[in-house]
Amino acid sequence: MVLIKNVAVVGASGHVGAPILKAIVDSEKFNVVVISRIGSKATFPSSVKVIHVDYTSVESLTNALQGQDAVVSTVGHEGFVGQSVLFDAAVAAGVKRFLPSEFGSDLNNAKSASLPVFGSKVTVRKNIEEKVKAGADITYTYVVTGGFLDWGIEVGFLLGWQEGKPRIYDGGDVPFSTTTLASVGQATVGVLSHYEKTKNRQVCVNDTVTTQNQLLAIAKKVAPEKEWAPVPVKTSDLYENANAGLAKGDYSVMMDYIFVAIFGDGYGGKFEHVDNELLGVPGKTEADIEAVFKKVLT
Ligand SMILES: NC(=O)c1ccc[n+]([C@@H]2O[C@H](COP(=O)([O-])OP(=O)(O)OC[C@H]3O[C@@H](n4cnc5c(N)ncnc54)[C@H](OP(=O)(O)O)[C@@H]3O)[C@@H](O)[C@H]2O)c1
Repeated sequence: MVLIKNVAVVGASGHVGAPILKAIVDSEKFNVVVISRIGSKATFPSSVKVIHVDYTSVESLTNALQGQDAVVSTVGHEGFVGQSVLFDAAVAAGVKRFLPSEFGSDLNNAKSASLPVFGSKVTVRKNIEEKVKAGADITYTYVVTGGFLDWGIEVGFLLGWQEGKPRIYDGGDVPFSTTTLASVGQATVGVLSHYEKTKNRQVCVNDTVTTQNQLLAIAKKVAPEKEWAPVPVKTSDLYENANAGLAKGDYSVMMDYIFVAIFGDGYGGKFEHVDNELLGVPGKTEADIEAVFKKVLT
């Protein structure tokens, strides 16, 4: 039986990387190393060993990954394409499990996978799967979490509370899967702890399934004096406008595709099956969501 003991986390200073690193360290199950870019100004807990590496060099990355059982990539979008070098280095170093930077939409869903915003993630998946099929001695897992619940509320991504004029997609009653950053970390620990059951597949987790109207109701309860003027938006319009923008070279529309993936009909924003039990993610209640809104609204 393969046991993951030594884990390298790449991009561990980011929005997702930091809570994932924390969960892995706090689990006390693994020896952890952080891989960071040469020249990065990122800082990490003093207890964690940090190796600065040239990400364009398979040789340097291979040296850095010697002895590691798993690589968890949490790089941001600028680093997506470079993950092919990271993957080749992981194979060369004898790493047993590779988790590319995912932590979002269900890309097993063909409609979601076809959205331009996910082009690099789909390419990374294809590259990994082709190499594994061709005999690369490594396994992979894609951790799919939906939009982040706490972060998504705090920055106004799931409900634009700041101006009181949230964009409400397709009527606001669309159910979607969403996960807190702490649970994303726990799900990653769960994957690293269950080698066989998470081998060469996508795992899905969520803390809850909710809707924008439910979030709005909670926000109104938390801040009853605040004025709200929701703005209705059709995801079909969003999709058409994003295509038109992209055709003109406007990459600022990429974010709109993410809203299409979460709220659009048939894009798999609500997961059909979740691996919560296997990965040790118990989920969150309405009181937990209320607590997040209290932090930003009171
Ligand atoms: N579901 C959601 O709601 C949601 C929200 C946000 C992000 N995500 C997903 O989570 C993943 C991580 O995103 P993030 O926002 O956490 O990333 P991020 O904070 O933008 O970046 C994470 C780390 O990537 C490294 N990095 C930056 N530029 C790089 C480059 N050019 N090449 C290689 N590495 C680079 C940096 O680490 P060093 O400085 O240490 O090298 C950085 O701290 C992505 O897959 C993203 O799509 C999901």
